[in-house]
Amino acid sequence: MTEIKIGLTEIKIGLIGGSGLSEGKVKKEAISVETPYGQPSAGYEVEEYNSLKVLFLKRHGPEHSIPPHKVNYRANIYGFKHLGVERVFGVFAVGSLNTKISPGSIVIPDQIIDFTQGVRESSFYEGPKVVHIDFTEPFCSEMRRALIKTAKNLNIAIVPTATYICVNGPRLETAAEIRFFRKTGADIVGMTLMPEASLARELELCYAAVAVVGNYAAGVSKKPLTVREVIESMNKSRESLKKLLKETFKILPKERNCYCKDALKNASF
Ligand code: HPA
Repeated sequence: MTEIKIGLTEIKIGLIGGSGLSEGKVKKEAISVETPYGQPSAGYEVEEYNSLKVLFLKRHGPEHSIPPHKVNYRANIYGFKHLGVERVFGVFAVGSLNTKISPGSIVIPDQIIDFTQGVRESSFYEGPKVVHIDFTEPFCSEMRRALIKTAKNLNIAIVPTATYICVNGPRLETAAEIRFFRKTGADIVGMTLMPEASLARELELCYAAVAVVGNYAAGVSKKPLTVREVIESMNKSRESLKKLLKETFKILPKERNCYCKDALKNASF
């Protein structure tokens, strides 16, 4: 792996998600980053939340033109590290496999099943240095705790634990695939959490996910799936989602006290 020059900004929190999360339509200051892995999806926009600065990256590009299987996950995560970010929040649209988790729900997943393994560029370490990060708990416990506490304080309904199964896409699933995924214990399905989450761990970044349910997955409800349904459900939850994130940023401890910051300590030979 190429050495990273870090700390190019004072901003310690990163946010990566769809274009819908950006504040307003005004053109923002955006920082371009070149990485050894190619171009990130877009420039890193400086957003201000209650006078706290956050770097925001549009995962699918400025015009939403990069499909999930073509996102340059390595460049995106490397860019955050290069700029000095320590904690990254990933925001996702997902389908629900669980009839108890309805469209519009905000979910804080605690586990991942990765069905993109071997298909996407998924590691910064491709030899000669060999690294095996521990991924038993794939999300930062401190960030998850802050999200759950904030939701409680603000009376925002959330689902505090769920297993996210990540597929390659871009097509949606068959009904039989979803039946199979339900048997694995998965609750929600999406196309972009992996390898984003494990790449963050490889760079000792803290990472947590916030998923918004856009639809019931294939065959869970009898209606055929439409992208419009997903967007409408996302729109309904947008204000709660923004409030949840803004307040969570505020209550995060300044110094990190979690496993993620030392993830490489016992990860190589
Ligand atoms: N499947 C996969 N990805 C998704 C879905 C889905 O049903 N909804 C939103 N993203």
